[in-house]
Order: sequence, then structure tokens, then C-alpha cells
Amino acid sequence: MHSELFLSALIFFHAPSLSIFVHYFIISFLISKKITTFAADFKTIEMAGYLTTDNRKVTANRFIEMKKQGEKISMLTSYDYTMASIVDQAGIDSILIGDSASNVMAGNENTLPITMDQMVYHARAVSRAVKRALVVCDMPFGSYQANDDEGVRNAIRLLKEGGADAVKIEGGSHLAPMISRMVTAGIPVCGHLGLTPQSIRKFGGYGLRAKDEAEARQLIADAHALEEAGCFAVVLEKVPAILAEQVTKELSIPTIGIGAGNGTDGQVLVAQDMLGMSQGFSPKFLRRYADLFTQITDAVGQYVTDVKNGDFPNEKESY
Ligand code: KIV
Repeated sequence: MHSELFLSALIFFHAPSLSIFVHYFIISFLISKKITTFAADFKTIEMAGYLTTDNRKVTANRFIEMKKQGEKISMLTSYDYTMASIVDQAGIDSILIGDSASNVMAGNENTLPITMDQMVYHARAVSRAVKRALVVCDMPFGSYQANDDEGVRNAIRLLKEGGADAVKIEGGSHLAPMISRMVTAGIPVCGHLGLTPQSIRKFGGYGLRAKDEAEARQLIADAHALEEAGCFAVVLEKVPAILAEQVTKELSIPTIGIGAGNGTDGQVLVAQDMLGMSQGFSPKFLRRYADLFTQITDAVGQYVTDVKNGDFPNEKESY
């Protein structure tokens, strides 16, 4: 009884401070909720392993800025909406819709069969998903080799119909006039030197390129020609690390390496390879960051068992 009287007196005399306390409590709650939401957004980026708060859309010019500032560029392939969405949200700088879709998505033996229409289809799916990364789309074999007009028209299609931000083309100085026209037309172009899989019939294999001095010199000259033609970056595939480093030092545009050592301005890998989804492809340059082949196989195996045993769906999973 005494304590009830004491409480009533306390409320009576402290009513104004109590209302301040209630306000304080509500405001603190709202602020802490906001901080939690911000922390959740922040964590998504932190979880990706690379802490960045820069959510600006990556552009071709930004690639060049990144080189100047010594920030390495991360690039991975994606060919579909779901994968592109995950890769983009994980904080990648650039997504390449590689013509490796020919192997990875369609099961072809090489990149030669994929068509412009198929690349437009993949580009459209990826560009619908991506909010931050620079979306670069490969020009497939046969879409630019016959003549420059056709090349420029097809590059326009990849931006106009596919929604890509830029195109990538395999080849050296002989492409310079066409690249200049594309750049003049407003199309950012990424070059691709070294192992160029569209020339597999000429090379006869996927081995290391530019091992001898003549080929290395040609590659350096080609890299300069691509820069002068207006390319914003050059992919260097499967060349000696020392050569890639030299090219990187000589160019003011960034180099993106695959099997080209650690001296390039950035790195690119095929997502399915680095996630451990592909089997029987283990080149020296490939680092596997996950074993999704095993995880998917286990998950599918478990599902099959559950269906066969009548364990799936259970009551909670039924209407
Ligand atoms: O098509 C592709 O995936 C590529 C990368 C390997 C650079 O060109």
C-alpha cells in the first residue's frame, strides 16, 4: 500500500519528466531502428569481403579513374538475371556477358557458334538485374569480322537492345578504325588481346600466348593501337605475367587479366568456374572460391530422397 502511494506521488510530481522520458524512448527506438537498417545495408557490402560504401554506377570513365587511383578492378562473367543480380549485389565492379556463354550456357565446344541474337538475349537478362556494375557485352564471332559497318551496327544492337554499357572485341590494331567509329558513335569499347578464343581455329589450342619476343612485341603494339583508337580497357588473356605488367605500365587505360598474373589493373574470371560449378576445367590461373558442384549435387540428392520417401512436402509446406 505504501509503495502504491509512493508510486502515485512519483507519477504526479514527475509527470512532465515522464513525458520527456517517453518521448526520449520513442525517439531512441526510431533512431536505433534506422541504424539497424543502415547496418543491414552496410553488412551486405561488408559480407562481400571488400568494404565499399561507393554505390555509384560504375562507368567506363570510372575504370580509368580507378587505374589512376591504383584501385584494382574486379570483373566476373554472368549470362542470366539471377546470377547477375547476386554478383552485382556482392559488390563486383563489372559484369562481362562473355561469349563463353556459348560453352557455359549452351554446352558448345567453343565460342564460335553463339549468335548476335543469343548475345542480345543474355545481355538483356543481365542488364535488367544490374544496378551498380559496368555491364560489358562480348561481340560474338562473325558480328564484326566481315566489315566495319556491320561491326558498328552490331555494337549498337548490344547497347540498344541488350542494354549493355559497353562492348568487348577480340583482336589488335587491324580493328582500330572500326573501334574509333564505335567510340565516336558513343559506344565504350574494351579490347581483348593474347589468347582470343574466337581465333581457336587459327591458334589450334588454348595455350599461353605471346611467349616469344615477336608475338610479345606485336601484343604491345596492338595494346597501344587499341588505346589510341579509344578503348577504355583491354583484357589480356593467358599471357606471361611479366608481359602483362609491362603493358599495364605503358597504357593509361586499365588492363584486366585472366591468366596474366597479378600486375594487371584488374582481374576477370568466369563465374561458374570460380564458384566451382564447372567440372574438368582446372587451368593454373583458376582459383575456386566455392564448391557449388558438390553443394548443388547434395541438395538435389536430398530433394530426390525426400520426394521418393514422401517426406516432401510436409504439412507446413501444404495448403
Ligand atoms: O567470354 C569470356 O568469358 C571472356 C573472358 C574469359 C575474358 O572473354
